[in-house]
Amino acid sequence: MYLDPEDERILAGEQGETKAKMLELLVALGKVFGAGRLVPIRSAQVSGASYKTIGEYGLQWLSSLDARAVVPAVLNPIGMPRGRWQEMGVKEDFARKQQAVVAAYERLGIGLECTCTPYYLRETSYGDHLAWSESSAVSYANSVIGARTNREGGPGALAAALIGKTPCYGLHLAENRKPQVVIRVQADTRDWSIAHFGALGYHTGRLVGNRIPFFSGINPDSDQLKGLGAAMAATGAVALYHVEGVTPEAVKIPYDLSGLETIPVESDGILQLFKDMPVEAVAVGCPHCSPAELATIAGLLSGKLVSKPLYVFAAQGVIDKNLRTVDSIEKSGARVFADTCMVVSPVMEQYSSIMVNSGKALAYVPDMCGALARIGTIEECIAVATE
Ligand code: F3S
Repeated sequence: MYLDPEDERILAGEQGETKAKMLELLVALGKVFGAGRLVPIRSAQVSGASYKTIGEYGLQWLSSLDARAVVPAVLNPIGMPRGRWQEMGVKEDFARKQQAVVAAYERLGIGLECTCTPYYLRETSYGDHLAWSESSAVSYANSVIGARTNREGGPGALAAALIGKTPCYGLHLAENRKPQVVIRVQADTRDWSIAHFGALGYHTGRLVGNRIPFFSGINPDSDQLKGLGAAMAATGAVALYHVEGVTPEAVKIPYDLSGLETIPVESDGILQLFKDMPVEAVAVGCPHCSPAELATIAGLLSGKLVSKPLYVFAAQGVIDKNLRTVDSIEKSGARVFADTCMVVSPVMEQYSSIMVNSGKALAYVPDMCGALARIGTIEECIAVATE
């Protein structure tokens, strides 16, 4: 693999042991995947941030590192809202350990915006090379923005943040971004919500596995694309998809679809996921809410009070720019929390059933929270939370 003179000096230890080890990791990854070189990245997004998922061993490893990020980098959601963990009911022992994880990342120069929607906070553009690791963020960056990132593991993304480069293979290369299967949606989707597109992703992810799907017959907006991609990355391993006439590469690049398997998808397989079931809590914002989603929630809650816990998750930067909307949501008794989510926070394990409006959360809540999951539209979620 080609390394430039500065890389060689880093490998020789001129910038410290941590950077030498991080570059060794990137070179090893590159060799495994056949990368010919490293490519400079515009930003990194680093998973392995919740103490719930990395535990004591992960914390010790992070604490042993000594270097600073050289490109903008943010953390994935952690197990609690940093400023309001007591209010969320996080136990002190967990909070202390989570704070130690956050402090370790801060020392490494990783931004403490703990979010799976970094694209709301920092401009990310078509063609940018990135090293992002949370699967829904990766899907959004590749598919909706047209940036280029593989789904990095936490250490790979951290190494890329500290070096400013990542191995150039996989989805960094145009030839690997072509559609591999056509999904022909045969349903009237004009009235579909974010939850319906999440359910479509939940259903489709199982059909396509890790192939790159090309959708026809749908016209989702950006929040619906976010829900579609997040769910496909959860039930499948889809890091990039295209939507005819909608996503940037499908619009700009005349992909040849001839010879590809075509899978028809009808509404039955989607609608049967919407089951009626009593729930103990409602949680929305998977992936973290956009400003438009917060405004919708505020409108639906106007003049109402919640009768069961309603959690709304969003990036702190999005909350800060929409404080009146957030205040209006919280007047109902709902809580808008930053930094965390219904999947990575241990607090959600207290419930035996949770309603969500996300195909990804529908897939993850049973295993990660030990709770039954019900999917509904945002209107249905708010109705259940306020009934
Ligand atoms: Fe984000 Fe948590 Fe969902 S990290 S995509 S809100 S599972």
